Amino acid sequence: MDLFEYQARDMFEAHGVPVLAGAIATTAEEARAAAESIGARSGGVTVVKAQVKTGGRGKAGGVKVAKSPAEAAEAAAAILGMDIKGHTVGTVMIAQGAQIDEEYYVSLLLDRANRSYLAMCSKEGGMEIEQLAVERPDALAKVPVDPTVGIDEAKAREIVDAAGFDADTAAKIIPVLTSLWAVYRDEDATLVEVNPLVKTKDGAIVAIDGKVSLDANARFRHPEHAALEDVAATDPLEAAANEKGLNYVKLDGSVGIIGNGAGLVMSTLDVVAYAGEELRGSADGEPVKPANFLDIGGGASAEVMANGLGIILGDEQVKSVFVNVFGGITACDEVARGIVGALDALGDQATKQLVVRLDGNNVEEGRRILEDRNHPLVILEPTMDGAARKAAELACQN
Ligand SMILES: Nc1ncnc2c1ncn2[C@@H]1O[C@H](COP(=O)(O)OP(=O)(O)O)[C@@H](O)[C@H]1O
Ligand SMILES: [Mg+2]
Repeated sequence: MDLFEYQARDMFEAHGVPVLAGAIATTAEEARAAAESIGARSGGVTVVKAQVKTGGRGKAGGVKVAKSPAEAAEAAAAILGMDIKGHTVGTVMIAQGAQIDEEYYVSLLLDRANRSYLAMCSKEGGMEIEQLAVERPDALAKVPVDPTVGIDEAKAREIVDAAGFDADTAAKIIPVLTSLWAVYRDEDATLVEVNPLVKTKDGAIVAIDGKVSLDANARFRHPEHAALEDVAATDPLEAAANEKGLNYVKLDGSVGIIGNGAGLVMSTLDVVAYAGEELRGSADGEPVKPANFLDIGGGASAEVMANGLGIILGDEQVKSVFVNVFGGITACDEVARGIVGALDALGDQATKQLVVRLDGNNVEEGRRILEDRNHPLVILEPTMDGAARKAAELACQN
């Protein structure tokens, strides 16, 4: 999960990283009120900043300096609703204005290729860091960080030395680096980036912009992170699936997909997309595509099957469903019972046809259960390709 800048700012503050005062606003009036109090600390000057989860806001016109609360309101009115790289601005942060002398760059990240962490640091931070990395890689210091040791004072010194800071500035940045490490470790982040880290005219080091990505695998350790989720941006079906512990990703096609095992589900998406491509020309000429990824996992119970079906049948875009199960740990009869149970529970709400392909452990028993129930919406198909074709055809017709 990526955080908004204002959330990263708060997290930095909690771990002792120096930041400026900031408050969020969703209307021009709120921005004016925030600028009244925050600007009081910086001669009336504030900076109004678009809160979107993408970089380059400054260049896109999403960061504006305001010399008075009235100007802050005006800037907020201009920035709210703005589209920045496909993200609509719904919130701005009113930040205290800094008198910037120099802009630096610092980041800590997970270096997968080297199975380590990596610190990157440069004296030349600001808006052109990507260009700097390509054109003058020497100006961007890269220092491996041992995950079992982290960034202590010695490591922080190694980083500032590699970046070539003078002794005075280096001494001021070292404690900021150890605090950023505390953010990285204690919050289970995979990325902590500060661009720019600035030196102000009076010599203070301050993090002006922050980007933090949190490791979703560590979510169980951080119940407090749930509050950071951007609920408005989360797809409601994905949220519902998440709540039920299902491995579901919403896609934009019309064939609902359920399978067991990520590999099987991935190939199911492929065969459906392939069949859908061949059927292009029927209906409105658009290819028929999968509506989602849903892996109910090995050893999935009837209940998990029912939960998954419930989510998929609740997707308005879904016109047909393909259930593709290879019984291994999950026996086919268990899956069949799940299908029957889910359809019975849904009753009249289930209106979409289900193409079911079962194979593997206890397949005869599974097929028998479905045949006995003889549900009008269920179609049994013996092969994966045949079932994909059938499901795609049904999605075309409906
Ligand atoms: N609070 C602030 N005070 C003064 N200047 C700022 C402030 N916030 C941002 N800036 C200036 O705007 C530039 C872009 O802002 P930043 O927050 O880094 O957004 P982005 O990286 O998305 O463009 C910074 O490099 C800095 O020069
Ligand atoms: Mg920035």
